Amino acid sequence: MNTNEIRTRYLKFFEAKGHRRLPSDSLVPENDPTLLFTGAGMNQFKAQFMGEITDYTRATTSQKCLRTGDLENVGKTSSHHSFFEMLGNFSFGDYFKEEAIRWAWELLVGDFRIDPALLWISVYEQDEEAYRIWKEQIKVPQDRILKLGPKENFWPADAPDKGPNGPCGPCSEIFFDRGEAKGEERLVEIWNLVFTQFDRKDGGALDPLPNKNIDTGMGLERMAAVMQGVDTNFEIDLFAPIRQRILKLAGGAGLRELGPKVRDLNAIADHVRAAAFCISDGVIPGNEGRGYVIRKLIRKAAWHARMLGVEGLFQSEVAAAVV
Ligand code: SER
Repeated sequence: MNTNEIRTRYLKFFEAKGHRRLPSDSLVPENDPTLLFTGAGMNQFKAQFMGEITDYTRATTSQKCLRTGDLENVGKTSSHHSFFEMLGNFSFGDYFKEEAIRWAWELLVGDFRIDPALLWISVYEQDEEAYRIWKEQIKVPQDRILKLGPKENFWPADAPDKGPNGPCGPCSEIFFDRGEAKGEERLVEIWNLVFTQFDRKDGGALDPLPNKNIDTGMGLERMAAVMQGVDTNFEIDLFAPIRQRILKLAGGAGLRELGPKVRDLNAIADHVRAAAFCISDGVIPGNEGRGYVIRKLIRKAAWHARMLGVEGLFQSEVAAAVV
């Protein structure tokens, strides 16, 4: 299944379950001083989570996201990106854990036909309710349900101790098992189901929100790698024209000849794609704030390009492949 089909199938699945399909928000969040860039599907729904907007209670989106906390790893690992798309379904005071879990399983195992024996689950160590739903209703074997702490299974991570203030809650993650031979990269997280039920206040107080909510996030590029049976996100259909363009600029080198330099290729593909999407949302490279982040992405892409022997100006040509 190609990436566009996965995106469409996801959105249609949740539309059929009464969700309003909404467009991605901009990468530049409006009226949210806590964020430099949109980094999750839920960002545009904070007012709904707080119970302040009530004209619909279910939504589904494919959200453009930018996360730059871990740039050094991009290109080196199989599934990190700065820019990526996150598929999500959201409930604002409507359905809660049971439906969110049941529908996630139905989509993965029913529609996407993933072998259930290759799926692992994690739940927050204090969330007995989610644990029981996975074990007793979905019948996931106990040895494939991991109980983890607030760093792994709270959204935002470690929110009770470290913040930020605002909507948060325990989460349950779904992992795809790529086999023991993959070592540390054996389990790849494909979907995060967040049970958004608290409003964190100064000092770490977790006040219950007026309603219980659902916020899920599935990494589109990771899901595509699973569905297309490839080892890294950079091998999915969506990256093929971008990588081909870079290889052409690098003198027509083939993927095999690159050896470990495939990491440079992947980093360029990621960074130029990220910069192109940011610029199209109105962020211009500059010396501070958002502009500085874009400038850094462009500079890093240029550095990786030199590793491949690409000299001079080249990023607009790669951006054309992104477009
Ligand atoms: N907000 C959660 C995440 O970004 C789920 O969408 O992982």
